[in-house]
Amino acid sequence: MIPTRKNALSLLMQYNKGESHIKHALSVEAVMRHFASINNEDIEKWGIIGLIHDLDYEQYPEQHCSMTRKILEDEKWPEDYIRSIVSHGWGICSDTEPVHIMEKVLYTIDELTGLVTASVLVRPSKSIFDLEVRSVRKKWNLKNFAAGANREVIEKGAIMMGQDLNFIIEETIIGMKTVAENIGLAGEK
Ligand SMILES: [Fe+2]
Ligand SMILES: [Fe+2]
Repeated sequence: MIPTRKNALSLLMQYNKGESHIKHALSVEAVMRHFASINNEDIEKWGIIGLIHDLDYEQYPEQHCSMTRKILEDEKWPEDYIRSIVSHGWGICSDTEPVHIMEKVLYTIDELTGLVTASVLVRPSKSIFDLEVRSVRKKWNLKNFAAGANREVIEKGAIMMGQDLNFIIEETIIGMKTVAENIGLAGEK
């Protein structure tokens, strides 16, 4: 079976009720779609993998990645999808190293979307539409700012991708803009 976005979304909603988890999933999906298009890759596949990457996290934080593997195996998802999904937790909750370009992008932008979100929410506009790369960079070394967004993972990912960090931040912002409304970053009304 080839999973569709509909399959992924219905599983996501089945296992996730928290708004922040759903917004994170939508953010990562949008950025994955954007990077797939830059790389001339399969936009739908990259998007689905992004959407579902943290499937188990809300209910099974202690079994993060391994529970997603189990759920998706039971759902008969293809092994290459499952492998890519669990590789986002490389060195943290999985020993599957990102190898494919899609896996490297997922690994890198997962934490970065959190840092971008936090950077938007401290702006007076609360809008991603006027966020610049340099305001994200300024937050980089502020340890207490978005402490959950692991900068080392992002930097390691950028090296794996062989891309400049500013380029990755820029493209991540562009990807997130496409779903700004749904992820609550379109500014105050
Ligand atoms: Fe995760
Ligand atoms: Fe994540």
